[in-house]
Amino acid sequence: MGWGKCVPEKVLTNDDLAAMVDTSDEWIVERTGIRQRHVVGEGQATTALALGAAREALERADADPREVELIIVATLTPDHPMPATACQVQNALGATRAGAFDLNAGCSGFVYALAMGEAAIAAGTYRTVLVIGADTMSTVVDWQDRSTAVLFGDGAGAVLLQATLEEHGVLATLLGSDGAGDELLMIPAGGSAQRASHDTVAAGLHHVQMNGRQVYRFAARMLPEATEVVVRDAGLTLDAVDWIIPHQANARIIEAAAQRLQLPLERFVINVDAYGNTSAASVPIALCEAADDGRIQPGQHLVLVGFGAGLTWAAAVLRWPTAAPEAQRAALHRIWRAWLYRWAALRTGLWRGLSRLTIWLGRLKQRGRRGG
Ligand code: UT7
Repeated sequence: MGWGKCVPEKVLTNDDLAAMVDTSDEWIVERTGIRQRHVVGEGQATTALALGAAREALERADADPREVELIIVATLTPDHPMPATACQVQNALGATRAGAFDLNAGCSGFVYALAMGEAAIAAGTYRTVLVIGADTMSTVVDWQDRSTAVLFGDGAGAVLLQATLEEHGVLATLLGSDGAGDELLMIPAGGSAQRASHDTVAAGLHHVQMNGRQVYRFAARMLPEATEVVVRDAGLTLDAVDWIIPHQANARIIEAAAQRLQLPLERFVINVDAYGNTSAASVPIALCEAADDGRIQPGQHLVLVGFGAGLTWAAAVLRWPTAAPEAQRAALHRIWRAWLYRWAALRTGLWRGLSRLTIWLGRLKQRGRRGG
């Protein structure tokens, strides 16, 4: 198993936001726990972040991109409505033997994708699955709307799942949905229900709209409920859980969940202060941070739990693996992976150049025929 994360360099602090809308650092910290968020720059799309996280996960697992058989990108901010962002990631990784698709389950997306990846491996159909949660929420929030602009950030996190006979990995998963709550958190326009038009753009219907209070109530109820159920399904008790890694939407929601579960807050991984709500990326970014800084130890039990648009919720229990790749092999493999990434970029450039040239020549021929 490997893990990796990627966030854009640019940081937007609460004070930066206070210069843009009628808000304050004090209000944001008190009501949400958020102090700053990372946001993409012009021209930086979701694929760039997903790719950064994916490469780090492959590095960590010392895996060859060509071993990957399936890539799932959980996102609600794909680069384009089509094709899937996962296909861009597959191509840039040189993962030539992988199928790839996007999955949209809002902020629960990463845990949904993890459940799908685990199921694909458990069924015996795939051996290596790359699961990514990536979102650029800064591209869909209304920067004039203080009720949402202060909450979100951009980022990506990834895990590489590999079939194993050892007793670690995903022990149980739980997925849930209640579409009756669709209007509580949505981007109203740009889909088939409300097609993109001048009017929808003028009305701001391509931005995130949220009923914060109602979503808060739903989250504060679902987070502990889903945790309790998935832990029971894994055959464990809450006492046996070392870390709970919840969706990072609001520190108050996490505190309320800790209270309901009667667990100390120290057992929760919380980093909403540094990243804000990064949607499908929030759970894997928190997972990566806690794994990187040594909080998560081999053999420990983790609960990953998310909630979000849909409405959706999802939870998973993991037993953290032990293996670390051999250093010398890893150095050679690193060079191989770097070469593969360069080749993938070169091949893409050639492919696109050739296909554009073919189209241009075709048009020239047509014009020539009409002229003749
Ligand atoms: O991943 C998606 C899931 N999303 C979530 O989990 C979000 C869940 N909801 C929340 O986290 C909270 O509801 C918010 C942080 C969004 C809002 O906190 P709240 O304590 O529920 O505030 P509120 O919406 O009840 O608003 C309280 C006041 C209002 O003013 P009045 O009506 O009392 O005069 C708002 O207009 O705070 C005002 N307000 C702000 N003031 C300064 C709302 N946003 C801001 C702001 N800065 N950014």
